[in-house]
Amino acid sequence: MFAISLGDDGAELRPLEPWQAEEFLTHMDRGREFVGQHIGLPDIVTDLDSARAYLTSYAEKAANDTGRLYGIWSEGTLVGGVLFRTFDVANGTAEAGCWLEPSAAGKGLITRACRVIIDWAIEERGIHRVEWHASTKNEPSIAVARRLGMTQEGVVRENYLYRGHRSDTAIWAVLAPEWRAAKTS
Ligand SMILES: CC(C)(COP(=O)(O)OP(=O)(O)OC[C@H]1O[C@@H](n2cnc3c(N)ncnc32)[C@H](O)[C@@H]1OP(=O)(O)O)[C@@H](O)C(=O)NCCC(=O)NCCS
Repeated sequence: MFAISLGDDGAELRPLEPWQAEEFLTHMDRGREFVGQHIGLPDIVTDLDSARAYLTSYAEKAANDTGRLYGIWSEGTLVGGVLFRTFDVANGTAEAGCWLEPSAAGKGLITRACRVIIDWAIEERGIHRVEWHASTKNEPSIAVARRLGMTQEGVVRENYLYRGHRSDTAIWAVLAPEWRAAKTS
């Protein structure tokens, strides 16, 4: 019902809620292998109950103002999403994240969607610092952080155990004054 246009290619950013669990699961099934290269989301969302539980956990975060989740629709099909895994208004910090199914990659959808939610967090909610955590091997994700004007602040070594392997996590972030300066330049 509520949608934000992501450009003239018809892509839209909309709330993604528990009642859409079936659509979310179908989308995840299309993207399971691609999405799961570096992150555990497809291993958490495996059937209708777990899809609904994941969306419900974000509905609860939204109700508590501690996180957000939005879907990206392209020509009416759910193809990915962006989220605030954490959202701490009192401290002015948040961590953003994202995923896409492979057919939607390479079109700038995530960069455009992230610009919308980060701008909302900074300008409307007073968030001072937005972080981005990505495996150091996840080049497409790091390219998104770079396009968003973020700076790499460090690498946390071997902190993420996923499918039996430990990976290093790069921490990127943008601060509110940097975000505003990039918008005006
Ligand atoms: C991370 C991920 C979402 C990045 O997807 P992506 O399609 O590369 O990112 P975007 O949607 O921002 O698109 C950027 C690409 O579109 C191109 N593009 C086209 N039009 C564009 C536009 N208007 N604006 C920005 N980029 C545009 C860019 O050049 C870039 O392509 P390139 O990498 O070949 O240079 C994707 O790889 C993914 O889902 N991976 C699996 C899940 C995951 O790892 N999530 C991140 C966890 S940290």
